[in-house]
Amino acid sequence: MRSQTIAAEPAPHPITTTFPGRDLVSIRDLSPLELESLFHLASLIKTRPEEFRAALAGKHIAMFFEKPSLRTRITFEAAICGLGGSVSFIDQRHERLDARETLNDIAHNLERWVGGIVLRTFAHETVEGMAEHACVPVINALSEVEHPCQALADYFTLQEKFGDLRKITLAYVGDGNNVMHSLLLTAALLGSKIRLGTPKGYGANPQILADAREIAKQTGAVIELMSDPRKAVRGVDAVYTDAWTSMGHEHETDERARIFPPYQVNNELIAVAAPHAVFMHCLPAHRNEEVTDAVIDSVRSIVFDQAENRMHVQKAILTMLIGGKTRQPLRSAHA
Ligand code: CP
Ligand code: NVA
Repeated sequence: MRSQTIAAEPAPHPITTTFPGRDLVSIRDLSPLELESLFHLASLIKTRPEEFRAALAGKHIAMFFEKPSLRTRITFEAAICGLGGSVSFIDQRHERLDARETLNDIAHNLERWVGGIVLRTFAHETVEGMAEHACVPVINALSEVEHPCQALADYFTLQEKFGDLRKITLAYVGDGNNVMHSLLLTAALLGSKIRLGTPKGYGANPQILADAREIAKQTGAVIELMSDPRKAVRGVDAVYTDAWTSMGHEHETDERARIFPPYQVNNELIAVAAPHAVFMHCLPAHRNEEVTDAVIDSVRSIVFDQAENRMHVQKAILTMLIGGKTRQPLRSAHA
């Protein structure tokens, strides 16, 4: 019998999955198992980036941004290049993506050239429409309704800090916006506990809240809504805030500046949280509006860990949705 040399392959992680060809428009596109798998892959990629240098080899990604960006743009570009892919960034700030031709036509052009599409848009429907028409994966890099890549990086960061996410409580205080929606859905999928402290009229989108509650029934997540920021923050492990006025709402800035000051995260408010509580913000911060310098520059602040993890988590997202060859064996969730 001829002897054979069989290369020793590392055993696949039991929960490592791929979901090639799928979109990430909303956190609702993921199952709890896929989310767990994504975090596992992100941590492998973060610790052993050299093993994933060819994950996007031969793949070109198109990014269209209707709004400004520092973190999302650079972390996607760095992630794509770090995985061996190439990228075109299209600054779409001068007009909406579908102003010149229909989304359908744009999608059927792009799918002939690129392996994936990353969109930052005003209307959430633009991301949904592109995902519906294009037969390559579409990733939401922030819309009016959600910022899924942000929330995934945020909970990945919390997992690094605290371990078991089912044992922690995050309080989000301020405007019930895109970032809050994605945090809410992520907490629901993870079986974690989240408190939302928002002023009347600035709470969660009712459909997203209903969906999060439905998911929570299966995962055991706890969702609490309140308008008193001190009640929201009392005893929590993490305090999160974001801009009072998101991009696209600039005309409401003065009105919001009258409503939101009680929700400012300052030393007095964060003192009500657990002594070990961390401070989180997706950035950009409007210093001394939603958060004081004293808090964002304090030892509690993990805002730059969140920013760093945007890149590692997006590498995991790109690998799972679009990636090909990696030295880490990946197996399909649906195999
Ligand atoms: N947090 C975030 O998405 O930042 P940018 O707007 O700079 O991309
Ligand atoms: N809620 C903010 C997030 C910025 C990253 C916005 O949409 O402007």
